[in-house]
Amino acid sequence: MLQTNNNSGGKTILVAGGAGFLGSHLCERLLGQGNRVICVDNYLSGTKANLAHLRNHPSFSAVEQDICTKFAVGEPLDQIYNLACPASPPRYQTDPVHTLMTSVGGANNLLQMAAEHGAAFLQASTSEVYGDPEEHPQRESYWGHVNCTGPRACYDEGKRAAETLCFDRLRRGEVDARVARIFNTYGPRMQPDDGRIISNFVVQALRGEPLTIYGSGEQTRSFCYVDDLVRGLIALMNVDPNPHQPVNLGNPGEFTVNALAEQVAALTGAGGGVVKRPLPVDDPRCRRPVIDRAAALLGWKPEVALSEGLALTVAWFRDNLTPARPHRKEAGHDVTAQLVAKAEHR
Ligand SMILES: NC(=O)c1ccc[n+]([C@@H]2O[C@H](COP(=O)([O-])OP(=O)(O)OC[C@H]3O[C@@H](n4cnc5c(N)ncnc54)[C@H](O)[C@@H]3O)[C@@H](O)[C@H]2O)c1
Repeated sequence: MLQTNNNSGGKTILVAGGAGFLGSHLCERLLGQGNRVICVDNYLSGTKANLAHLRNHPSFSAVEQDICTKFAVGEPLDQIYNLACPASPPRYQTDPVHTLMTSVGGANNLLQMAAEHGAAFLQASTSEVYGDPEEHPQRESYWGHVNCTGPRACYDEGKRAAETLCFDRLRRGEVDARVARIFNTYGPRMQPDDGRIISNFVVQALRGEPLTIYGSGEQTRSFCYVDDLVRGLIALMNVDPNPHQPVNLGNPGEFTVNALAEQVAALTGAGGGVVKRPLPVDDPRCRRPVIDRAAALLGWKPEVALSEGLALTVAWFRDNLTPARPHRKEAGHDVTAQLVAKAEHR
């Protein structure tokens, strides 16, 4: 059983995956609102550094724990956010079986915990449930176009099954479960080497390297700044009554990968040009959320424009980027090179 102390007047909230990019911002915001926050993370893709500024907060605890293994918390919980799952393709494809088990078994363990505590539950789902979409832009009513046997399936199908678990337990009256379908989100504390498009471009630009573009660069993505996204997650968790349906959270601005590369180059003064690489398997050709449901149910819409959010992100990487790491050898092959080679545009 986790040993924790409770000295806050607000809610007691467990954030699984709280050491990750989104999770660390969520923990920070929840603490700022006067809640007690328990972060549970196995540090697979998150870091203790992401939580360094929270470590001494009297209402914060961090526990190392894999959600695939059942565990208990020794104090009553009001809410559970499940953000635990590596989110970038190179990370979630490194151990696809563990990714699937995290998405399904891990989510089920946390749902069970929510049922036992009578806690509300929010699942961080993803626009990847729409796969390579045949409907554009994507509404929540679209059932998606996912290859269930491809290299992205461990993540996409895992997240789809987790949504199923949430709605089955909600229908059975066991858990007050809510599902956010998160579209591509960016900002400070993205890991420099985890293969997401914005961190890839910013890191390459700041290191004077060419920006890697996969395919023609005419594929599109929508980019939401992290502060907007976190505000949406908290709104969805607290809206009354429970919406009983998934809610898209993302920024409907749509940009080609080429246009994004130009913006990053202009902001950083990068002169390294671009290199083209083949498009990865099952890479979605387009992405843009319809956010009418979030607007109607939560009164939510993004407020940070891409130009503004990119400037904040570039500034953070300028302050925090360490020199390029030498390539790491593991079991005879080059892991860093593999990460870069597998990086996909999300
Ligand atoms: N950032 C995005 O653009 C985006 C888009 C769609 C969905 N999401 C979802 O939001 C969540 C957070 O994404 P992120 O961008 O912060 O990713 P991230 O990789 O930075 O964070 C995930 C966190 O979960 C932890 N984790 C992974 N497996 C775990 C396990 N089995 N047990 C305990 N902890 C585990 C990691 O160590 C990490 O701290 C993920 O569930 C992701 O699928 C993110």
